[in-house]
Amino acid sequence: MSRLTIALLPGDGIGPEVVAEGARVLRAVAERWKHEIELREGLIGGCALDARDTPLPPETIELCRSADAVLLGAVGGPRWDNPAARQRPEQGLLGLRRELQVYANLRPVKVHPSLAVASPLRAERLEGVDFVVVRELTGGIYFGDKRREQLPHGGERAIDECVYTTSEIERVTRVAAQLARTRRRKLTSVDKANVLETSRLWRSTVTRVLRDEFPDVALDHLLVDACAMQLLRDPRGFDVIVTENMFGDILTDEASMLAGSLGVLPSASLGDDVEGQRARRGLYEPIHGSAPDIAGRGIANPVGTILSVALMLRHSFGLEQEARAVEQAVAATIDRGCVTADIAPCGARSYSTADVGGAIAEALTSISRQVHSRA
Ligand SMILES: NC(=O)c1ccc[n+]([C@@H]2O[C@H](COP(=O)([O-])OP(=O)(O)OC[C@H]3O[C@@H](n4cnc5c(N)ncnc54)[C@H](O)[C@@H]3O)[C@@H](O)[C@H]2O)c1
Repeated sequence: MSRLTIALLPGDGIGPEVVAEGARVLRAVAERWKHEIELREGLIGGCALDARDTPLPPETIELCRSADAVLLGAVGGPRWDNPAARQRPEQGLLGLRRELQVYANLRPVKVHPSLAVASPLRAERLEGVDFVVVRELTGGIYFGDKRREQLPHGGERAIDECVYTTSEIERVTRVAAQLARTRRRKLTSVDKANVLETSRLWRSTVTRVLRDEFPDVALDHLLVDACAMQLLRDPRGFDVIVTENMFGDILTDEASMLAGSLGVLPSASLGDDVEGQRARRGLYEPIHGSAPDIAGRGIANPVGTILSVALMLRHSFGLEQEARAVEQAVAATIDRGCVTADIAPCGARSYSTADVGGAIAEALTSISRQVHSRA
């Protein structure tokens, strides 16, 4: 039995709807496997701006630092979209990633066979697709200096700096190469080395780390534009992709279409092992945003959040059996057609966010019985 404290940050838009289902599955895991799990809620993003006049209140940082792991929904929405605003919801999320030093964002992309029809790609291209994008999460253009300047003869100039250091590239490369070692031992590094200086440093650093520390992992390099094309042409060819912050953000939204919907992809953001702690600190969240177009209607897909819970059980707590059981429960629920509208086949019945979350928690009960009876 484990005693675990998990911070829940529902955030904005559909965030609270999907995090409620993630929490339901966490409670189900705790009950079936006899773990003690304490869930503590905090504010982040637009709702924190409204309540506390900051997108990342100090008590949220403290809550996340003292927790064993964090489950987050999404932040942002049109209500807080004023471009002239001093503070924006997204600053809460970027600030939290930096505070927790979770620099490696793992985004697994797997196509569930019964969801191939939900993808705009032909089903035969999707069979067996199974890769992980490791996105660098605390550097690059999202974290560089930003400014605007008035030009003397009218108009403005906007500047976003993109900065990477050798050590930032080395540490995320090691996470990706270690992961490749547990899979098909193939790493694709994605950059724009024909144009960007940060990408040239990226390429030479990744090459050196692989040569010196992971000679058993095959490495290739792709320019980001070619990678965007290859993801559609031959997605089966990828095993682990490592790339910088913005490229990873964009490529994984594209990759979500292989899996059928943005709503089904999970993510795990990991830092280094925390000295003296049993759990590896991690921030877990679906890759989608706050989806204001469907917020409050009870139709958001909770699968990305629930699969993020499985990643949390695996990466932060080492609970592999429980993680697999959650993944099996998701697969079984999809197989029996209990899915939200974004992935329901044309003309088929779709279910609410809570229906799907409830069905997954129920499926978990029968899977846990089988597991326990085998033990
Ligand atoms: N990590 C985050 O918190 C995060 C990430 C991306 C965008 N955002 C913010 O979210 C807001 C909306 O951004 P956007 O519309 O570009 O991206 P989005 O991911 O919120 O939505 C894109 C499309 O996908 C659909 N979608 C997303 N998640 C879904 C789910 N779980 N189930 C069913 N359909 C789903 C939406 O309905 C929408 O049509 C913006 O304020 C943006 O800044 C936040």
